[in-house]
Amino acid sequence: MILYFSATGNTKFIAEEIAKRVDDETVDLLNRIKEQDYSEIYSEKPFVVCSPVHVCEMPRFLAKYLLKLPLTGNPNIYFVFTSGGYAGVAAALGRKMAKKKGMVYMGRAEFTMPRNYPVSRRYPLLPEDKNIERIRKAYSHVPEVAENIKNGVRIKVRRVTYFEKIITYPFNPIWVKYMHSAKPFYSTDRCIGCGKCVRLCPLNNIRLEDRRPKWEESCAHCMACLANCPVEAIEYGKITTKTYKYRFDKYWKDEKSPECRN
Ligand SMILES: Cc1cc2nc3c(=O)[nH]c(=O)nc-3n(C[C@H](O)[C@H](O)[C@H](O)COP(=O)(O)O)c2cc1C
Ligand code: SF4
Ligand code: SF4
Repeated sequence: MILYFSATGNTKFIAEEIAKRVDDETVDLLNRIKEQDYSEIYSEKPFVVCSPVHVCEMPRFLAKYLLKLPLTGNPNIYFVFTSGGYAGVAAALGRKMAKKKGMVYMGRAEFTMPRNYPVSRRYPLLPEDKNIERIRKAYSHVPEVAENIKNGVRIKVRRVTYFEKIITYPFNPIWVKYMHSAKPFYSTDRCIGCGKCVRLCPLNNIRLEDRRPKWEESCAHCMACLANCPVEAIEYGKITTKTYKYRFDKYWKDEKSPECRN
């Protein structure tokens, strides 16, 4: 069973491509997380958790949810991370999670995908033509990962070093505390009041008031609201007015027409 959370489409793409090759189902965890639904998931095949990397870890709301979620049947669990190039300690935390859940850690795979975080000056989006290059490269890595999962082989990649762990563990909570404010979000007059941003927020941090979104304070900066607004009506301060908004499906339709843009 392939479980995934994806805010802007990168992880969903990789999860679905793996699922096709291992002949298994995907479960989008978004609504389960929103509803805090902890009903058991049973699988005869190994579990594969697919997640974006947020500040060098699996998003904490996802890790917290997965830790409590009963996964029964096959005891083996793989982790698949998509990132903008550095997955930090996500893998080490995946291993820890497997142990806490009494499951067998089968390794992790990492896919470097386009960056999706337009609200940061420090980690800006890539030039748009680089996005398709990254997607193509990641796509070519899927069969190898899927083959390992299909054959029940442990995926062996570089281990996260002790040095990385001691620098990275404290970084996440500090960054999140000071950088993940939802206050600068607003909607422009383009907003049509469709409520998609409300439906896509994993933390239920957005409500509609007079058909316009209002953001509360509990935000993971996942970018699902900003990226998926059908009329691009969501901005974050001034910074997003000066850049494009990344969403996977603007860059890829299928392998035969990868540069198709909507
Ligand atoms: C809040 C936030 C933090 C991120 N932190 C990292 C990071 O530490 N390292 C990295 O390489 N990419 C980072 N990224 C980029 C995403 O991991 C990457 O674009 C991912 O593929 C997005 O997946 P999704 O489209 O499924 O949401 C971050 C993105 C966000 C929104
Ligand atoms: S998704 Fe966009 S158009 Fe729809 S309510 Fe939210 S801001 Fe408005
Ligand atoms: S409000 Fe924050 S947590 Fe919710 S979708 Fe937007 S960026 Fe993600």
